[in-house]
Amino acid sequence: MGSQRTVGFAQFEPRIGEVMYNLAQVRRLAMQAPQADLLIFPELATSGYELIDKDEVRAVAEPARGGPTFETLHDLAIANKSSYVIGYPELDGDALFNSCMLVNPDGSSANYRKIHLFSREKELFSPGNLPPSVQKTAAGLVGMMICFDWIFPETARLLALQGAQIIAHPSNLVLQWCQRAMFARSVENRIFTITANRIGSEERVGRRLTFTGASQVTSPTGETLVQAPEAAELVGTAVIDPDDADRKWVTELNHLFEDRHPEYYTGLV
Ligand code: ACM
Repeated sequence: MGSQRTVGFAQFEPRIGEVMYNLAQVRRLAMQAPQADLLIFPELATSGYELIDKDEVRAVAEPARGGPTFETLHDLAIANKSSYVIGYPELDGDALFNSCMLVNPDGSSANYRKIHLFSREKELFSPGNLPPSVQKTAAGLVGMMICFDWIFPETARLLALQGAQIIAHPSNLVLQWCQRAMFARSVENRIFTITANRIGSEERVGRRLTFTGASQVTSPTGETLVQAPEAAELVGTAVIDPDDADRKWVTELNHLFEDRHPEYYTGLV
């Protein structure tokens, strides 16, 4: 038997370099949906996106536990009995990662480091060095991936094969395809996906990036359950039954995972 959970995204415009301002927005937006069991914030939501060099990243980076972002989400998670996922620049020793953290109401947390870095991110961050994994949350079993990971379907597949019911997908999208592609990530894995994108523009290194908004929650059968506009702040939520993602039969005779033929997939690795 399933049970209903409220899940969603908080789409907003972070300010570059202003961690305390951005965390104040995170608190304000989280309090607009205190009933959410799971709320996802964008990629690099605490720092803004277009950081110029590693010194700038280092100035706004923090560890996966114990920094201002963790403390903010920890307080919110306890107050609202919610799980939260947020993208932030992570400092681990000397290494910088484009990461997201999950914080649960019981105080447990998990961290994911973006594996597939996009464009100039390769000059600022190390690629993620940990395999994607699935975590318990207040809304069911959640796997995390970040933004450009979407164009490598292996990421979502790996999470689905590990039992993820929901993919949390903090993003700063600038290309035009992701929101439509997440329809496929949902259907091909029979899984809920929550893409939390940002809005606004940044122009700091001789290029103008405009982020595409349109954050969305997509169901295992491809319905868009809620979608934000392209250029306005919004906390969007949907009521789902996470157990719907455990039904992997596509037809009476086709099981999404059992019908795979990995013996022919060796060329993938
Ligand atoms: C992206 O990965 N931020 C496009």
